[in-house]
Amino acid sequence: MPANKKLLVLPGDGIGPEVMGEVRRVIDWMAHRRSLSFEIEEGLVGGCAIDAVGSPCPDETVAKARRADAVLFGSVGGPKWDSLPFEQRPELGILRLRKDLGLFANLRPAVVLDPLVEASSLKAEVVRGVDIMVVRETVGGVYFGEPRGVEKAADGRRRGFDTQVYFEDEIARVARVAFDLARKRRGKVTSVEKANVMQSGRLWRAVVGEVHRAEYADVQLENMYADNCAMQLCSRPKQFDVILGDNLFGDVLSDLAAALTGSLGMLPSATLGAVDATTGKRHALYEPIHGSAPDIAGKGVANPCAQMLSFAMLLRWSFGLEEDARLLETAIEKVLAGGLRTADIMQPGMARVGTSVMGEAVVRELEKLAA
Ligand code: IPM
Ligand code: MG
Repeated sequence: MPANKKLLVLPGDGIGPEVMGEVRRVIDWMAHRRSLSFEIEEGLVGGCAIDAVGSPCPDETVAKARRADAVLFGSVGGPKWDSLPFEQRPELGILRLRKDLGLFANLRPAVVLDPLVEASSLKAEVVRGVDIMVVRETVGGVYFGEPRGVEKAADGRRRGFDTQVYFEDEIARVARVAFDLARKRRGKVTSVEKANVMQSGRLWRAVVGEVHRAEYADVQLENMYADNCAMQLCSRPKQFDVILGDNLFGDVLSDLAAALTGSLGMLPSATLGAVDATTGKRHALYEPIHGSAPDIAGKGVANPCAQMLSFAMLLRWSFGLEEDARLLETAIEKVLAGGLRTADIMQPGMARVGTSVMGEAVVRELEKLAA
């Protein structure tokens, strides 16, 4: 039996705990049938952490995350905490984890699965076969730049400001993640910025170009203004392989890419830190793209697939378990091809099911595949 793999599970708020419950089923199955033993800790993050201990990301959670080999994150936030002051919002839970663990590269695949081609709001011929990976920088830029604030100017008007700032090494390291991925995919990186209006965008373009020339001349690099990229994503999404963007543009464009698929409830993500030179380990956090969906929380109707697919990414990226990751992904595709649908991806003629029936079906399919 392989050495224990330490997982920190952070279900969070809203539908987080429900969809995480279905992943626990998959983990149990993998333990019994694939001899994968996980040592699982749970922790608090987001609104439930605010309620329990007064902080959206308690120190204890950060300490547990540091000890873990991988973090599986659910979702945070909800109307209950919407009116809290800026410094206490549930969203700070994920931002602090990214920052404190140095999780600088966020990988967000947007894949249109064949059985769900009709779920997109775009025409089937535009989106069929779309397979994009957005690589977003997640510990720099305007999300963390100083100074920031809201103040009163000398003339009495309120003034709100943030700082967009990048160091060259921060750009270079996330660019390398994008180029490495492209090498394993279709060999193309589209790097987005607004080099036409932003100084940090000029530096972004220059550094990505330098890394490309020095280390990745075999990969195709295209530079694109972020606004143009938004338009191209809607009109000709198939031109993209890997899209590389800063924290803010990456946030916006990854939502857009995800929306192309018409099925947010299907999309996972991974956020990776640097590989430690001595231990060879890297911190990593995996989470679905969707939020906490407070409107349907507790009703047993949420789609557990994105959380399960996040676990598949965890198997692949943190433990190199490609075969097990593929197995889980295939099981989910087969369940969809068989006609089961949660409400968010419901189509005419399909069978509408809830969270746990979907989870059970995936485990049944795993069982068949492994037989
Ligand atoms: C995301 C989310 C977060 C972000 C929020 C919840 C802080 O939108 O992960 O994309 O802006 O990074
Ligand atoms: Mg976002």
